[in-house]
Amino acid sequence: MALTERQYFALRRLHSLSGVFPIGVFLAEHFFTNSFALHGAESYNAKVEFLTSLPYLYLIEGLGIFLPILFHLVVGVIIFREARFNNRSLNYRQNAMFALQRISGVVLIFFIAYHLAATRFGAYFGYDTSDLFALMSDKLQNPFVVAFYVIGVCSASYHLGNGLWGFAIHWGLLTGRRAQQRWSWAALALAVALAVTGLNSLLAFRPLGLEPILLFDKSASHVHAVAPAAEAGLPEMQDAHGHGAEGGEHR
Ligand code: HEM
Repeated sequence: MALTERQYFALRRLHSLSGVFPIGVFLAEHFFTNSFALHGAESYNAKVEFLTSLPYLYLIEGLGIFLPILFHLVVGVIIFREARFNNRSLNYRQNAMFALQRISGVVLIFFIAYHLAATRFGAYFGYDTSDLFALMSDKLQNPFVVAFYVIGVCSASYHLGNGLWGFAIHWGLLTGRRAQQRWSWAALALAVALAVTGLNSLLAFRPLGLEPILLFDKSASHVHAVAPAAEAGLPEMQDAHGHGAEGGEHR
């Protein structure tokens, strides 16, 4: 059954909206929740337990996450198949962004499928999901899995960052050429920020023996100021006001 022009327009609008709400909002929340891995296994597993013990869990997951992703994915594949790459009305950078939006979407199909099978539905595939931190740490000792996760996290970050730019244009929020250009840089900056957050959470699982970066984190001052002094058996470091590393935190 062929769609009328009006139906197709409505479908594209729904596809655009679903990319931001709820999928984009969920992705940002997911990256943030995963950052609790920076505070160790106990903290991370407690957050997972909290989320999986939410009332109406299946309803929230089904209607709020899985169904919108499935819808966005199916319509996304239709849009991908129709895409005219190398559009002459777009410059080189715009063409690259257009192509990358579609390519990252296709990468995400495989990544999301693998990620769900390995974690949320891991029990059906024989994994012990009672300690998700240990499960992830274990998986991320395989360099191929690490590479796949790096590609997946970067694809999701770019797809959402650049997607917000497309969203603003499709919904008529940006009309002037200058505003569109400025917003495209802001969208790229958002994609980089998302990628850094996502990749740093990956590092929290110590893949291949690597360590995360504890910037902007309460535990950062503890790790950097106390550990070397304590290891060397030296007295605790003091700041200009005579506060020790533990007590020197300014609120
Ligand atoms: C992490 C999951 C995903 C998120 C957060 C997401 C988000 C977004 C956003 C915000 C947009 C911009 C909407 C617009 O241009 O108006 C978009 C566009 C798009 N998405 Fe996704 N998406 C995801 C997964 C996927 C998947 C799995 C596919 C499958 C191919 C896909 C295909 C597309 C395509 C083709 C577009 C361009 C639509 C257009 O230019 O009109 N997306 N996505």
